[in-house]
Amino acid sequence: MVKKWFALMIALSVLVIGLVACGSSEDSSNEPSEEPETSDSEEATGEASGTLEIFSWWTGAGEEDGLLALIELFEEKHPEIEVDNAAVAGGAGTNAKAVLTSRMQGNDPPGTFQVHGGAELNDSWVAAGQMDPLNDLFEAEGWADKFPEELIELVSKDGNIYSVPVNIHRGNVLWYNTEIFEEHGLEVPTTFEEFFDVADALQEAGVTPLALGDREPWAATHLFETVLLGTLGADDYNKLWSGEVGMDDPRVEEAAEIFIRMLDYVNEDHSSRNWQDASQLVAQGEAAMNVMGDWAKGYFVNDLNLAVKEDFGWAATPGTEGTFMVITDTFGLPTGVENPEVVKSFLAVLGSQEGQDAFNPLKGSIPARVDADVSKYDEYGQETIEDFKSAELSPSLAHGSAANEGFLTQVNQAINIFVTQKDVDSFVDSLKQYQP
Ligand code: GAL
Repeated sequence: MVKKWFALMIALSVLVIGLVACGSSEDSSNEPSEEPETSDSEEATGEASGTLEIFSWWTGAGEEDGLLALIELFEEKHPEIEVDNAAVAGGAGTNAKAVLTSRMQGNDPPGTFQVHGGAELNDSWVAAGQMDPLNDLFEAEGWADKFPEELIELVSKDGNIYSVPVNIHRGNVLWYNTEIFEEHGLEVPTTFEEFFDVADALQEAGVTPLALGDREPWAATHLFETVLLGTLGADDYNKLWSGEVGMDDPRVEEAAEIFIRMLDYVNEDHSSRNWQDASQLVAQGEAAMNVMGDWAKGYFVNDLNLAVKEDFGWAATPGTEGTFMVITDTFGLPTGVENPEVVKSFLAVLGSQEGQDAFNPLKGSIPARVDADVSKYDEYGQETIEDFKSAELSPSLAHGSAANEGFLTQVNQAINIFVTQKDVDSFVDSLKQYQP
């Protein structure tokens, strides 16, 4: 069995690794290997100075803690650089991506911006020639063997590396309220059949089985893609994105049917809640389960003060045990920014062991680096770090890695209609029509 979908790109990998492999030494200076264009003061101090604009969608509860910790660390290391935290609220970049697009089109790029590794980076900004390669930074920082090859693939195109991954989030996680499961003597479901049995029992007991907050439609797409992963399995799910498996595969329709059946078990006000509001239902014991990426863990622990394993538990979503839906947030260097050295000095901190270990324990994600200090992570984090090593990896559609933004926008629209109209045929027709 092909373990990882990235195997298709091995040839590219060899090229990339070759480019970054030589002459690297970890934790040396933050200076790039090429001669930077420096101002007089930079020449004097060896440091870049100026303002750094960091653009993301990490604002508010459950989102910003990791970023703020990273900024604090950066400011300690670079007091001469002023940080402008230009975050635009809205889960999964609902609003930020639109703002970014108009800025990029208007030749007004932020200093650096959050972008998912995979299609979102490569098919949009890299393909349009709007990102500078970072091979020199990877070389200067000695990162060639510090990130998993699969992640380097996701941030590379045509032999160049275009961004630095700050984390790895897992998308296919079923969160549950431990007290509710204990009280009703229920086992956490691992298959769809078990899921519906548990959901029936909960509903009979007057508990909302599944929390959903799809005011921003991506949350429904997120749930749907985990179902798709469950019906197809990692190999064939991955082949959807290379075109080897079509949206006309019967397991895609099966996923649509399961998804619609799940909606019979969600909170009635799902369309007026966002992801945090849905997670809150589980935290407060008003719903038993929720399917969300592990930024929900950051929210449970840091914002709602829940105890890992005691107040909430987790499992792979039904049918996806042994697979890992990968979401990676990355930051790069847009072409034409005023002070590229300032941006690179931030990327150097973001990609360092210290930077990743400041960010990820708060964000709920695991470090993108292979050499993180695991003692800084809670039980969920440590388990997930291990799972990532052995699991089959699958790229997330809802979070930009699997397919281009155009397709994702169409799927988000189609799913929004699907949730209200519940018309399986017309939803599957849209998927077939739009499949990249
Ligand atoms: C994802 C992103 C995560 C988290 C989430 C909710 O797209 O990768 O870091 O922010 O959206 O907004």
